[in-house]
Amino acid sequence: MTVKRVGIVGSGIMGTGIAECTAKNGYEVVVRSRRQETADAVVTSLEKSLAKQVDKGKLVDEERVAALSRVTATSDLGELSECDLVIESIVEDLTAKKHLFNELDRICHDSTILATNTSTLPVIELAMETGRPEKVCGVHFFNPAAVMTLVEIVRPLTASDETIAECRVFAETCGKQPVEVKDQAGFIANALLFPYLNNAVRLLESGVASQEDIDAAMKGGCGFPMGPFALLDLVGLDTSLAILDALYDEFRDPNYAPVPLLRRMVSAERLGRKSGRGFYDYHR
Ligand SMILES: NC(=O)c1ccc[n+]([C@@H]2O[C@H](COP(=O)([O-])OP(=O)(O)OC[C@H]3O[C@@H](n4cnc5c(N)ncnc54)[C@H](O)[C@@H]3O)[C@@H](O)[C@H]2O)c1
Repeated sequence: MTVKRVGIVGSGIMGTGIAECTAKNGYEVVVRSRRQETADAVVTSLEKSLAKQVDKGKLVDEERVAALSRVTATSDLGELSECDLVIESIVEDLTAKKHLFNELDRICHDSTILATNTSTLPVIELAMETGRPEKVCGVHFFNPAAVMTLVEIVRPLTASDETIAECRVFAETCGKQPVEVKDQAGFIANALLFPYLNNAVRLLESGVASQEDIDAAMKGGCGFPMGPFALLDLVGLDTSLAILDALYDEFRDPNYAPVPLLRRMVSAERLGRKSGRGFYDYHR
């Protein structure tokens, strides 16, 4: 089977970015959100992003028009039935994702590969919600998905070689570098990244330095492209908390136990860029 039509479920930060790189690289894309307005907002965001790329000379206008013509937006899960690959990118919550996989399994053609963009959750639990566990795996993009080149292909115990190979080809066609990883919380990148981000919050909480100075130290002293607080705000503090909770559940390693300040910030709805305020204020 060759993947031609890709369904994306979820219209948040990641769903929007995945829709962009998938449409730009020649796939037909169906974006599904629970509400038609939020699905349409993905297309609006795509229009803006592609227009900007044309203005900067990074994309020719015919490519912009062609990419947009390949995208449809819907609130109807049924429109994903004929997709060759569906990528789930909804909230990092196992119960919500399990419910969705159950529905997707009922709706989608038997040959459809069902993939998750989860950052940490056990892919096997999603696979076992379906009658096709050999056709379920992780296809984990990084943020911003249209820019970052890595895709982790996560192999649960049940996935077939064919499913993994199809997803590798899909990632490569999107211009990404796929790496294969076992189904273990955090996979590669987040297993290494999140103890660092969590410890940055711990430093702040203990009053060692300000967030601005910690960010400046990691950029200027370690050559990181952005500091930990700017990165947490980009990822989303709710998503970051869910990632740390899942890592801690799996390993019981204190480095993964979310620092209380992070949980309090989520309770205060300071979620980062997406809510306008996190460690930094984006309203200004
Ligand atoms: N933010 C990142 O940096 C990043 C990077 C890689 C992977 N991910 C993963 O991508 C997924 C989405 O993250 P995001 O950053 O786009 O989040 P987001 O908060 O921007 O978007 C979440 C989406 O899920 C939808 N949603 C919320 N509850 C739902 C439910 N019960 N049922 C169906 N849909 C629901 C929301 O309407 C929204 O469209 C998560 O699994 C996350 O771990 C995030």
